Formats: sequence, structure tokens, C-alpha cells
Amino acid sequence: MTGKGLESVEVGESAISFVEGAQGRLSFRGYPASELARALCYESVVHLLLRGSLPADDPPREIDAELRARRPLPAGALAVIEHLPPGAAPMDALRTMVSALDGHAFPYPPTETQGLELIARTPTLLAAFERRRHGAPPVDPDPGAGHVTDYLGMLEGRRPEPERARALERYFILLADHGMNASTFALRVVLSTQSDLLSGATTGIGALKGPLHGGAPAKAVEMLDAIGRPENAEEWIRAALARHERLMGFGHRAYKVEDPRAEALREIARGTARPERFRLAEAVERTALRALREAKPRERIYTNVEFWGGVVLEAVGLPRDLFTPTFALARTAGWAAHALEQAADNRLIRPDVRYVGPRDLHLPPGAIAGRRSD
Ligand code: COA
Repeated sequence: MTGKGLESVEVGESAISFVEGAQGRLSFRGYPASELARALCYESVVHLLLRGSLPADDPPREIDAELRARRPLPAGALAVIEHLPPGAAPMDALRTMVSALDGHAFPYPPTETQGLELIARTPTLLAAFERRRHGAPPVDPDPGAGHVTDYLGMLEGRRPEPERARALERYFILLADHGMNASTFALRVVLSTQSDLLSGATTGIGALKGPLHGGAPAKAVEMLDAIGRPENAEEWIRAALARHERLMGFGHRAYKVEDPRAEALREIARGTARPERFRLAEAVERTALRALREAKPRERIYTNVEFWGGVVLEAVGLPRDLFTPTFALARTAGWAAHALEQAADNRLIRPDVRYVGPRDLHLPPGAIAGRRSD
């Protein structure tokens, strides 16, 4: 057995989040993620993930103050944004901007302060890039606004309505961490070489970008656009499956029942999306699940986080190419917690591979000399 894709391979131990794929449960430090998303603010979940316990206050006084203080960008970061091509995809821009943060402030080993810096700065970076590509000046962080409200405020240049900000905050909490997902694993591999948090986060962003991980939500809402009306769903989906295409927002390596985040996000979408859009999404989901059951009877394919995540981000009013970068902002909390956990008990992550290429070959006599005389 080579464990292709490392399926079911336990690569270590973690006490951060628990993904129970067979039961469809996700908890952070023992608390169900959906319960946290209903009750708390994102800053409290940052506290929980980084420090391992719930704060005494919501929002947690100390962490909240630290995050607010770290939101403004240093002049160097703004200069980097100025030099990015305005046509760059925001996810590529985010990867570059994170990589270009002051590396001297992030020496190995990672610290909580570094983690908070990463979490606090990334929304400001992304919002400043988003505004610049539309020819608008950056909006300074508002020290009176919470983390997620301020992200929307810096994007839009005005205080968002509380319902919209709260929908996005619940999204941020639900996506804050998720076991040994591909980007977190990639970050932990980087940290395990005793490289720094910024390098790990840059790698994480690169891994998250792919459609098999975090790159699916915009494609899921594009599918809704292409289907257009509930009565078109059956034909469209069957044709896509006949072409052996993957339906974005369905299937998961860990969950063989419904992704609990999909359930929570569906409820958020019910309260925020236009009723017509919500009804279309429900019809597409129903049809896709039925068609996938018929087309892949042996696979247990259910709705994943990206399908309803896309509908929620659309309802909040984010442009599509900000969906995956926004997922990355939410995940910085989990990445920071995993960097701390990896460094606290580090061993180089360096797996093996079964070699299947040719062996015992030799260059023909004189081959090298012949080349040199060319
Ligand atoms: N649509 C159609 N078929 C799908 C599917 C989907 N969304 N997800 C899985 N399958 C099929 C595969 O084609 C494959 O069938 P085959 O063996 O006949 O080729 C089978 O199910 C197993 O797929 P595999 O890629 O081995 O499963 P995995 O555990 O590695 O994949 C995902 C998990 C998420 C990569 C996969 O479900 C997927 O590509 N989903 C769509 C993209 C997406 O929503 N990404 C966000 C993930 S949160």
C-alpha cells in the first residue's frame, strides 16, 4: 500500500480541531464549530485555537486589542501593493503580499504574537489590494470595528450592515480550522524544517488556491449561473457528469456524510441570500446529490463547505475572485495554531516514496566525452 494522496494516513497528533468524517462532526478544541459560529465572535475563536481554551470575555480583551493594534500596514507593505499588477488575481496578490511582510518580524520559532500579526494584517492587505485594482485609495482600519466587520469596511469604504458582517463572521469561524487539510499540512511541512511562519502561510495560500481544496466556491456559484433555473438543473448536471466533470462543492476526502459546515452555511444562506438564489441553490444541491448517487454509487459524495460557502459569500456581496482569498483570511487562525503546535514538538516531516523508475542504467562508453566535443 502506498497510501496515494495519504488517504487515512495519520501524520502526527493534534489537539486543535477534530474532524469526525463518518459522523459529520467538526469541533475546535472540543467545541462544535457550528455552536461556536452561532454564539461567538471570530476573535474568541482565535483565542480558542491559539491558546486552547475559551476566553473569559467575548470578544477576548487582550487578543482583540492586539489584533486591532496590528491591522494598520507598515509603509513597506503598501509599497509592495503599489507594485503589484492591478490585473493580478487577488489570491496571487495575497500570496505575494504575505510573503513580502517583514520577515525579520517572523523568525523561527513562531510565537502567538506572530500568529496575531498574520491574522490581523492579511485582511488589511487584501482590502488595500482590492481597492487599488479599482483605482481607489486604501481605507485605514477602524479601531472601533471588530475583525470581520472591519474587513468588509476596508473593502467597501463604509461600515457594513450588522447582518451582513455577522454572516461573514460566522463563515470565518466555520472555516477557521479543519484538521490536517492540504494547506495546513503544507504549512506544517514548511514549519517542520524550522522555516518561518510567513513561509508556511505563503505555502498554505498556494495549496488553498487549487480547486480541489479552497478554489471551488466561485466555481460553485458559476455553476448556479450556468444552470440559471431550477428546472434546468437535471439536464445540466447529468451532462456535466457524462463529460466526467467534477461538480464543485460536492465530495470530501474526510466526510462521508454531509459536511457539518455545509449544514451551518446553508442556514446562513437561507437568511442572507436572495430567496430566488437560495431556491436555485437548494434545487441544484438536491439534483446533484441524486445524480452523484446514481453516477458514483460506490462513493459517498455529499455537499461540502464550498457549495454553501460560495452562496454565503455571494450574498454578503464579495466579488467572486475574493472568495478563496477570504477563505484564506479565515484560515489564518488555524494556520497560526498549527504552526505553534508543530514547533512545540517538532520533527522534520519527510515521508518516503516507493521508487518505480528504471534502475541500474549506465551511460554508454564515451557518451559524455562525445557531448563535450560538440
Ligand atoms: N463530482 C463528480 N465526481 C466526484 C466528485 C464531484 N464533486 N467528487 C468525487 N468524485 C468522484 C471522482 O471522480 C472519483 O470517481 P472515479 O474513481 O470514478 O474517477 C471518486 O469520486 C473519488 O474521487 P477522489 O478524487 O479519489 O476523492 P478524494 O477524496 O480524493 O476527493 C475532493 C475529494 C474534494 C477532491 C473531490 O470530492 C472533488 O474533486 N470535489 C470537487 C471539488 C471541490 O468541491 N473541492 C472543495 C473541497 S472542500
